[in-house]
Amino acid sequence: MADTQLAIVVLAAGQGTRMKSATPKLLHPLAGVPMIGHVLATARALEAEHVIAVVRHERDRLVEVISAELPESVIVDQDEVPGTGRAVEQAVAAIPESFDGDVLVINGDVPLLDADTLATLLARHRAEGTAATLLSAILDDATGYGRIIRTADGTVDYIVEQKDASDAERAVAEINAGVYLFTVGALRQQLAKLTTDNAQGEKYVTDVVGLLRAEGLNVSALPVSEPWLVEGVNDRAQLSAQAARLNAMIIRGWQLAGVTIQDPSSTWIDVKATLAPDVTVKPGTQILGATAIATGAVVGPDTTLVDCEIGENAEVKRTDATLAVIGAGASVGPFSYLRPGTILGADGKIGTFVETKNARIGTGSKVPHLSYVGDAEIGEGSNIGAGSIFANYDGVKKHSSVVGSHVRTGSHGVFVAPVRIGDGAYTGAGTVVRKDIPAGALAISVAPQRNMPGWVEKNRPGTAAAEAALAAQDSNPHEEN
Ligand code: UD1
Ligand code: CA
Repeated sequence: MADTQLAIVVLAAGQGTRMKSATPKLLHPLAGVPMIGHVLATARALEAEHVIAVVRHERDRLVEVISAELPESVIVDQDEVPGTGRAVEQAVAAIPESFDGDVLVINGDVPLLDADTLATLLARHRAEGTAATLLSAILDDATGYGRIIRTADGTVDYIVEQKDASDAERAVAEINAGVYLFTVGALRQQLAKLTTDNAQGEKYVTDVVGLLRAEGLNVSALPVSEPWLVEGVNDRAQLSAQAARLNAMIIRGWQLAGVTIQDPSSTWIDVKATLAPDVTVKPGTQILGATAIATGAVVGPDTTLVDCEIGENAEVKRTDATLAVIGAGASVGPFSYLRPGTILGADGKIGTFVETKNARIGTGSKVPHLSYVGDAEIGEGSNIGAGSIFANYDGVKKHSSVVGSHVRTGSHGVFVAPVRIGDGAYTGAGTVVRKDIPAGALAISVAPQRNMPGWVEKNRPGTAAAEAALAAQDSNPHEEN
């Protein structure tokens, strides 16, 4: 049910300079979703009456992602005045005057923040009736964060940023998590008083806390039980640390849901992937995008799947696959490369050193060794010989080929597209297929083999090959050359 007394402000206007990246900080992905997407997903769970996202740096790129992840968000463009305080000030100006509930402000760079933690914060704020309640954390290394300064009796007094803090203030281990609940009226009154009179020349939203206390209003800070839930991402070291924690949570979730994951430390699973009970994931495997794996399937070791669909009891080892569909009971790998549009039927096989692209391989059909299958359709129960190439490109255009059912092609065939091979047809080894083959025919295109007896002795006398040939004739004089 919608919470009509709640407005959420997501801060996404900062530049993220510490990332040293051409990609805006909040668009760097964790588990396949941009950082801001995680925060918006958490915000969505609270069903707030208003959601406002503040943007400035690379605003168009941010807006595209925000509108996709949470379409009901109202976008506010921050002006040239820098700082989180200015961002909140402009966001609050976009909330209707008539709104008299609570404003939840969330930094866009806390991707692991979860909805349960926010719900606890909201409940606490409403139960205590304070002007503001914020999340804090006790960190072993608080460097870089704003510190929560309390009076001797433990009351929250003010927040001081690292760059403005004295040595004594920097020694405080309780940090501001960048997640705040304000009563809208109290917030509105204080925002107008913010100045840029500090080490960074920015309006700090954190200064609202001290201003509220100066008015005699109460502020409380709620330390979270797991500090990493609220750790911010400012640089790439923090990004990988938070991504690893998120991955560990995702893996644990699937393990508890009945998936065997042999080596969590070398397995990566994106948030949008789904795995059925009794799937087995072997070491060194990345299950990315919206990949879906059905029960009984075994994936890995050393396999990367991007947006793939893996059928029941299929086996996929040492494989790189993108946008591929693998049927039930099928076998893929080791060392297979499945490009977009690969559809392998039930009980089919794509084997060692085989590359496929835009290839529909029917039920029980096999491409076992050293082949390229591009722009092709293969029927059911066919076997493509080792070392086959579907030559789909004439240098200008790509063409498609069709192979029927129960076809047997010899080793080292080339299928020069577009060609059609009828049901039950055979090809000899080394056939270059340039014309259609009717059903049931055997096609051969190589010249008959011709042996020239004694050629080596005559043309390569004295070589090891000639000696060996002579010795073979002596010990077996009746052998035909
Ligand atoms: C901020 C807090 C700090 C807290 C930390 C928690 C302030 C002044 N400091 O510091 O007390 O411990 O978060 O992680 O708020 N942003 C804007 N507009 C701006 C600047 C930033 O929207 O002008 C956004 C950023 O995109 C980001 C968030 O606000 O999502 C926080 O900005 P950041 O620069 O990372 O603040 P910190 O220095 O980490
Ligand atoms: Ca930050």
